[in-house]
Amino acid sequence: MASSPSISDMHGKTVLITGASGGIGLATARQLARQGARLVLVCRNPEKAELARATVQEAAGPETPVDVLLCDLSLLRNVRTLAAEVARRYPRLDVLINNAGIMPGPLTVTEEGHELSWVTNHLSVFTLTNLLLPQLMAAEQARIITLASEAHWLGQIEASQEARNDPHKYSAITAYCDSKLANILFTNELAHRLELTGITANCVHPGMVNSGLMNPQTPLLMKSMWYMALPFMISTERGAQTSIYLASAPEVARISGKYFKRNKPGRSSAKAQSRAEASRLWRISEEETGME
Ligand SMILES: NC(=O)c1ccc[n+]([C@@H]2O[C@H](COP(=O)([O-])OP(=O)(O)OC[C@H]3O[C@@H](n4cnc5c(N)ncnc54)[C@H](OP(=O)(O)O)[C@@H]3O)[C@@H](O)[C@H]2O)c1
Repeated sequence: MASSPSISDMHGKTVLITGASGGIGLATARQLARQGARLVLVCRNPEKAELARATVQEAAGPETPVDVLLCDLSLLRNVRTLAAEVARRYPRLDVLINNAGIMPGPLTVTEEGHELSWVTNHLSVFTLTNLLLPQLMAAEQARIITLASEAHWLGQIEASQEARNDPHKYSAITAYCDSKLANILFTNELAHRLELTGITANCVHPGMVNSGLMNPQTPLLMKSMWYMALPFMISTERGAQTSIYLASAPEVARISGKYFKRNKPGRSSAKAQSRAEASRLWRISEEETGME
């Protein structure tokens, strides 16, 4: 069983979390607000965002402002606009939690040419994190946390956008697994690149969490597996514990490049640990996002 959430003091810390409108993200934001952090919630739906802001504000108390930034992360031009807005409003970020994610349905290619789960779950994380490095560098010690998944064990990194967008090869389950493998490889490469800085980068498997991840678009096989697993699933509050721990516990302030489960570094697949795969993913991501 996971240990209880850390209650480390977060007063004076600014935490930006994506996908904060529900599920694990909202539970994470609420708890960090209780611990005193100043929360910046990135959400795509204005109504859900307002509800989330109100519950996080209640947890934060009247003294600490809770901000919402609206962004649909599936378009990289929106992610760039978001990063510019963050840079304008927050000179320093102490914690970045890349939490937003989707379980895809039938193949969807965005108007920018990216498969929907690949861009939402990975390319937006790559872009946002890299663009926010100056704000993270400005903190004495900053933490980057990315939500990955045990689904990564079945993942692989396709070499090209064409392969990912090929309707004959596409499977929603495979696309999700690939994007979650990318979350771990990205974290490993990032941790390596940030070794000499005060920024750490870790990723998380939150457990099997009864959240809003399943949606009407989810393939039937995945939905059936999800419903069979429901009795064993944990609440969003428990699913948020490892993210909260990594964001706030003093004992992990210097730990970087790890895949955490239940507040402890855990085992990931051989592919996820491959240095060569991590730098290959970095190159592919640079090409597909136009970032260097
Ligand atoms: N649940 C699990 O068992 C499980 C297991 C392993 C890993 N994870 C990972 O945990 C993370 C959180 O998932 P969850 O289970 O809490 O699912 P969730 O309840 O569906 O929450 C996902 C969040 O991401 C947001 N989001 C999705 N697409 C977005 C976009 N294009 N732009 C902006 N925000 C977007 C959603 O916003 P809306 O409210 O507008 O949809 C929602 O706030 C994901 O990265 C997921 O892969 C979950």
